[in-house]
Amino acid sequence: MQTPLTDTLGCRHPIIQTAMGWVATPDLVIASVSAGAFGFLAAAVMTRQACEDAINMIKQQTSAPFGVNLHSFQPNIDAIVDTCIDRQVAAVSYGRAPSAKLIKRVKDAGIKCVPTIGAAKHAKKAVDLGADMLVCQGGEGGGHTGDTPTWLLLAEVLDMDLNVPVVACGGFKDGRGLAAALTFGASGIAMGTRFLLTAESPTPDATKSRYLQSRVGEIKVSTRLDGLPQRMIMNRRLQSLERASWPRLLAIAMQSGWRFKAAMQQSMTEMLKSAWRMARHSDLSFAQTLLAANAPMIIQQAMVAGKPDDGVLPSGQVAGLINDLPSCEALVDRIMREAKSRLGNGDSYHAV
Ligand SMILES: Cc1cc2nc3c(=O)[nH]c(=O)nc-3n(C[C@H](O)[C@H](O)[C@H](O)COP(=O)(O)O)c2cc1C
Repeated sequence: MQTPLTDTLGCRHPIIQTAMGWVATPDLVIASVSAGAFGFLAAAVMTRQACEDAINMIKQQTSAPFGVNLHSFQPNIDAIVDTCIDRQVAAVSYGRAPSAKLIKRVKDAGIKCVPTIGAAKHAKKAVDLGADMLVCQGGEGGGHTGDTPTWLLLAEVLDMDLNVPVVACGGFKDGRGLAAALTFGASGIAMGTRFLLTAESPTPDATKSRYLQSRVGEIKVSTRLDGLPQRMIMNRRLQSLERASWPRLLAIAMQSGWRFKAAMQQSMTEMLKSAWRMARHSDLSFAQTLLAANAPMIIQQAMVAGKPDDGVLPSGQVAGLINDLPSCEALVDRIMREAKSRLGNGDSYHAV
């Protein structure tokens, strides 16, 4: 099925596997791109060496194109971008845009820029800065998220006629969602939670089971993990963060920051500089940005150590509707078959 998404990213199907810290590892990316989707490696929680090793591992297993996800405020962003350029990945994704200079370097190297936006007011600026495609994530989506529902955000952005492919994100899991998005005018769908719940996702079984048991109504937005609105399953750890006083939250953040600094091989000065940059370029106070150190280390408890109650569980509300763990290939095949049968025009659908 060919759409402006497949034309821009060079994949077989109009489906993106989005980046998820500790989840979108080489195994998941290899499985999703081999199934014909476009996959993003989650590099925001990686050292340069780990990112380079991960890219090499993917390239050894598949010739299909894939991308790398950046976090604008990660202390080693320049080194990660150097690696992306050196290893010629097909695309980079990001939320808040890195500097115009960095985007220009990426684009000059022939790499596509695929930002995710959570509010229509960010769409034009993202395109002016060089976006080759816009992923519009509605509020029901997992991880950091906005408050406009997916279909309303999509309508707002499509109506702006910005001349780049627009991809629907937040709440997708099946072929009827893809068919609806294409009919609506999008060029495809992007999914996080659905790919987290696949056989190849590295998330430990105990944690996957917790996601499968979750209900739509218990997957809430909280700012208590890292200062930004983030959608997560309301578990024991998140409840305790919700109840904690500010001094207690800051104390937890300092501990997490200390461990994150060691994991990322950064100095405390570099970490504080990146928190300061984040405070200057966002609506957050410096104290709130210090909470950002919390996210990777607390999420890691659930996503790597396999202790779903001790960590937090970023998740789209769609987890409440998912009850299986197919392989990426079975999942993508199922979605494409269902979408084609709903669209009723075989495999030559050209979304405009
Ligand atoms: C466990 C988890 C981790 C995530 N980590 C990241 C990340 O590191 N970088 C990023 O840009 N988005 C991250 N996200 C957001 C996803 O990439 C994606 O935009 C979102 O999950 C889409 O909504 P859906 O889950 O309803 O499909 C994360 C989401 C989840 C569920």
